[in-house]
Amino acid sequence: MSVRIGDIAPDFETDTTAGPIRFHEWADGKWVFFFSHPADFTPVCTTEMGRTAQLGDDFARRGVKPLGLSTDKVDEHLKWIDDINETQSTTLTFPIVADPDLKISKLYEMIHPEESTTEAVRSVFIIDPEMKIRLTMTYPMNVGRNFDEILRVIDALQTADRNRIATPADWRPGGEVIIPPSINDETAKGLFPQGWNTIKPYLRTTRVDSKTD
Ligand code: BEZ
Repeated sequence: MSVRIGDIAPDFETDTTAGPIRFHEWADGKWVFFFSHPADFTPVCTTEMGRTAQLGDDFARRGVKPLGLSTDKVDEHLKWIDDINETQSTTLTFPIVADPDLKISKLYEMIHPEESTTEAVRSVFIIDPEMKIRLTMTYPMNVGRNFDEILRVIDALQTADRNRIATPADWRPGGEVIIPPSINDETAKGLFPQGWNTIKPYLRTTRVDSKTD
């Protein structure tokens, strides 16, 4: 089964470091940052888990619940969290899914056999409150993810949803946004009373509120 943008995120039941969960119920109508890791007690993963914990307030401000996954057991995860907290100077509170039998990793296509048949690659799924997959990213095992980019794409998706806009290359909150070509000028007048700049008929820019709080 493939997991693509626009699909409903597959539901599952699993053990986590915060107890058993059913995924959709646990999400509770919030956005979810679901991200996988090859294995516990590995260096890159330790920094990524720590970074996610450090950014807890930034995720919460955006209404996003982080959910980690590593292809090990809960008791191993719990011991690893002690190391993460110690080495990354943080307190990790979000759940980490146990997946020793690779059930969820396979469901979400986190196993890329040419990379490893037993460990997940670094997948990211940004899932909206309707449980629709809105963004996927896949990183190899030896490259840690950029968490500025993860927060930026969440900001872009939420700003786009609120304002019916698209975001240009390298957009950051507060920057100019794009009026999609599917919105004609007549409709745009109602949606963007602040006006816009027409660079080409298909390239119109404007400004909207993109605050995250
Ligand atoms: C790491 O997290 O450091 C790692 C895990 C698996 C393969 C390579 C690096």
